[in-house]
This record gives sequence, C-alpha cells and structure tokens, in this order.
Amino acid sequence: MATSIQNIAVIGAGTMGNGIAHVAAANGYPVTLIDLSPELVERGLDTIRKNLDRQVAKGRLEAADSVAILERVTPATDINGAAGAQLVIEAASERTDLKLGLFGELDRICPAETMLASNTSSISINRLAEATGRPARVIGMHFMNPVPVMKLVEVIRGRETDDDTHSAVTALARSLGKTPVTVNDSPGFVSNRILLPMINEAVFCLHEGVAEKEAIDQVMTIGMAHPMGPLALADLIGLDTCLAIMKVLHTDLANDKYRPCPLLEELVAEGKLGRKTGHGFYDYD
Ligand code: CAA
Repeated sequence: MATSIQNIAVIGAGTMGNGIAHVAAANGYPVTLIDLSPELVERGLDTIRKNLDRQVAKGRLEAADSVAILERVTPATDINGAAGAQLVIEAASERTDLKLGLFGELDRICPAETMLASNTSSISINRLAEATGRPARVIGMHFMNPVPVMKLVEVIRGRETDDDTHSAVTALARSLGKTPVTVNDSPGFVSNRILLPMINEAVFCLHEGVAEKEAIDQVMTIGMAHPMGPLALADLIGLDTCLAIMKVLHTDLANDKYRPCPLLEELVAEGKLGRKTGHGFYDYD
C-alpha cells in the first residue's frame, strides 16, 4: 500500500505554483504556498481568489466552499514551512541552478521520507535527484497550464525513483481529478519534446514571413482543431519558459533541429514574455 499523502507544500506562487495550490486545496488538501516575498505569495493567492470568484459567479461553486478552499492555503515566505509536508512540489522558475539549489535545501530541511517533486517542464529529474541524499523520493510532477483546467499530469520517474513515491504521486494526481501519465526522464519528457518544437517552428514561420501571426494560429486552430494557435499558446506558457525549454532540448539532445528561433530570443531579451508581461506575440490588457 503506497504512502497516502495528506498535506502538501508548493514552492513558487507563480502561474503553475498557484494553480497547483488551487487544485490541491479545492480537493481537500492543506497546502503551504511558499515564495520569496509576501507580495509574490499574495499575488498567487489573488489569482486563486479570482479564479474561485469566477466559478462562484458562474454558479459552479458555493461561496462558502470558495472560502474553505482559500482557508486551506497557508501562505509562507520561509522555505522551512515545507518541512511539515509529506510532499513538496517545486514550481519555481525554469532555471537549473535555482532548482538544484532548492532541492539541496529541501533535502536538508525535510524529513528523510518526504517526497520531493518538481513541476519542471524540461530539466532532468535525475539531475535534481542528485542534488539530494534521497534520489528514491524524487520525482517529476508536470502539470499543464492552466492547472485548474488541464487534466494531464506527466509523471516523470527518475532512474532511482522508488515504487512507493511513484504510486503515492500518481494516486495523488488522480485524487486531484487529473490523469497521471508516466514517462521516463529525458530532455523535455514527452510533452515538451513534441509541443515546443511545434511552437518554435511556428515562430520561425512568423520570423521568415511565411504568414502573419493570426494566420499561423488559425491554420492550427481551424485546420488541426487545436484549442489555441501555437503563438497564442506560447504567450500563455510564457516566452521565457518556451525559450528555456528549447535551450534544454538543443543542448541535451545535441541536435540543431532544436535551435531556438532568433525571434523568440529577441522577444525574451526585450522582456516581452507573453501574457504575464502584457506583451508577447499578441498584446494583452
Ligand atoms: N485559470 C483557471 N481557469 C481558467 C483559466 C486559468 N488561467 N483559463 C481558463 N479557465 C477556465 C475558464 O474559467 C472556463 O471555466 P468554465 O468551463 O468553468 O467556465 C474554462 O477554463 C474555459 O475557458 P474559456 O471559456 O475562457 O476559454 P476557452 O474555452 O478558450 O479555454 C483554454 C481556454 C482552457 C486555455 C483553452 O484555450 C486551451 O485548452 N488551450 C490550450 C492549453 C494548453 O495547451 N495547455 C498546455 C500548455 S503546455 C504546458 O503547460 C506545459 C509546459 O511545460 C509548457
């Protein structure tokens, strides 16, 4: 019988972190949501609040349930707040040095049996596991954006991930209303090995003047029944995240077919990161 996870800590209150905390709290789990400053945690809580308010306004959620969900989220700015959780889900920015540092620190402060999961979109789970003294308890738990809506959790088994961690995490994903799909550790896993080269190719089409951005997106929405076109989706994911993933694919798979499009690099250098900054391939209010 796998360990039954009863409480969770989430590191990082950004787009993915607040979405994970939202879904966990909505399914009855007490969650500690940790980020570097009170402002960052508050911004994450604010997003959860807005998403819950929208559900209440649509009559899909009782106002009292919305209050109870928010009460299950404990905000924190000290990483030691993760020490009491059975599962820590790291959802910090997609930077290898940052994540390696966090895994080393979590390993020091959490009891030996605590499971450490990363929501990384491309960084090697084996590498993160090596930063700890508990590689058997390290796993990838890759949620999709927007977390409250998307059903997939890509579960990434590292070389040494034990069966208990794998079973506990897949059972947890199911209890969050998600469908876990297990893959092995490899650059970009399956999701981003396939998705990001498609997005990058769409950026090359724009860069080379093959078509206007709206036309590129329409080809994929109308022609391929994708819910959003690749450029709009890149804006949703964050252009910095897209670029970081392409760089991991390019470097780790050592193949030039994964070269990031120069236009993607330019937009990131200009601080146009998509929806979160108000500007990307499209402009947002
Ligand atoms: N947070 C919470 N809920 C959200 C949301 C958000 N950011 N965005 C939309 N929703 C909810 C809406 O409230 C609405 O809920 P109800 O059904 O209860 O009314 C529902 O989602 C549908 O939203 P809309 O009607 O506004 O819009 P839509 O039908 O066009 O759907 C979408 C929006 C769900 C984002 C849809 O366009 C879609 O599925 N897009 C593709 C998303 C995708 O591919 N995600 C994966 C990205 S890759 C990734 O995340 C991994 C990685 O590592 C990069």
